[in-house]
Amino acid sequence: MPSQIPSQIAVGLIGHNGRVGSAVLTALLKRNEDLRVVVLHRPSSDVSSIPAGTEKRVLDLEEGSPEEIEKAIEGLQVVISAVTILAAPSQSALIPALAKSKSLITFIPSEYGAPWREKEDFGVPGLTFLKGKETVMEQARDRGVPITTVKSGTFAGFWFSLLVGWIGYHSRDRYSKRCGTGAHERDAGTPVPAARSRGVITPIRDLTHTHSVFGIDVKGNKIQLYGNARNLPGEATSVPYLAEGIAQLVSSPTTLPDRTFSFVEYSPTGNELAKSLTSLHGSQTLLEEYTEDQFEHDVQRGGLDAVVAGLKRMWGQEHEYPNVTKVEGFPSVPLEELLRASLGN
Ligand SMILES: NC(=O)c1ccc[n+]([C@@H]2O[C@H](COP(=O)([O-])OP(=O)(O)OC[C@H]3O[C@@H](n4cnc5c(N)ncnc54)[C@H](OP(=O)(O)O)[C@@H]3O)[C@@H](O)[C@H]2O)c1
Repeated sequence: MPSQIPSQIAVGLIGHNGRVGSAVLTALLKRNEDLRVVVLHRPSSDVSSIPAGTEKRVLDLEEGSPEEIEKAIEGLQVVISAVTILAAPSQSALIPALAKSKSLITFIPSEYGAPWREKEDFGVPGLTFLKGKETVMEQARDRGVPITTVKSGTFAGFWFSLLVGWIGYHSRDRYSKRCGTGAHERDAGTPVPAARSRGVITPIRDLTHTHSVFGIDVKGNKIQLYGNARNLPGEATSVPYLAEGIAQLVSSPTTLPDRTFSFVEYSPTGNELAKSLTSLHGSQTLLEEYTEDQFEHDVQRGGLDAVVAGLKRMWGQEHEYPNVTKVEGFPSVPLEELLRASLGN
């Protein structure tokens, strides 16, 4: 911890064009009295979305020399990474510079996911790649870099199939190839009143998986649940909620090193979700079992299918998000409203 903490905290943000990163940038910029935002971008990044007057520095995690990386993070008290999951291992290049930094209070690596478990989850071949994020955190701890881990529920839009292409902005090409469509680009623009205007969801039509990617078929009034998910809470979070939570955290950075925070906005049990859907449709929601065989089949497919399978299974088993922290003052859209919005998608 630096001996002197400035009144205005300098926060570096990596991944400003991403789903999480763009929302975090917006949330950080709203706190310009407490925070000075520095966007750390690749040489090739589109910087057109960065508001004029916001400091920008080039940070190249793949090709940058150690000196260039040190220079890019110079003077920052907090570094937040929101790089896409597939680029998570590239964050290792930051660690020597963070370890040398005299100003750093904490590093928030790109995580924002479920509390995956070492044996039950990383032990499953289709899910092993998720460990890339953990590896970076372990490397940081080994070098004495203070880190803050931020976990999140499954993104709400994804849960209700309102937001597709969830692997992300930078993975568009890969995702489109997998799905055989440019679906990520197609926003049908269906009006979804309040939820949409609050920036909580992005309805995108026309994707192979639409409407039941997570086993929650809002239109079909069906939910597919694993194990004991009827009675256990499943966790979902909107991206703006997560982003506001991160901005609130970094406004008091000295409390953050070596801690984990989880932002969970919705946590209905399977039965509670079914009750909401039943009331929305005026007819009984069908609850189907997501079987062990289906889980095995889906994890073997790897990628997104494996992650979804892992999340469905986690919901149906006892699991715990560490240190769930409420985002103060955030105008969450009620669950029923999200479901109604999904019907209109
Ligand atoms: N809980 C959930 O349901 C959930 C869902 C989705 C994602 N997540 C997690 O949230 C985090 C961010 O994901 P996201 O979907 O927001 O990502 P995303 O939209 O794919 O983010 C893309 C950003 O990553 C940057 N990037 C890509 N490769 C990079 C590299 N090699 N070096 C530096 N920057 C690079 C891009 O930079 P350019 O601007 O230069 O292209 C872009 O700004 C990930 O850890 C992901 O696993 C969680």
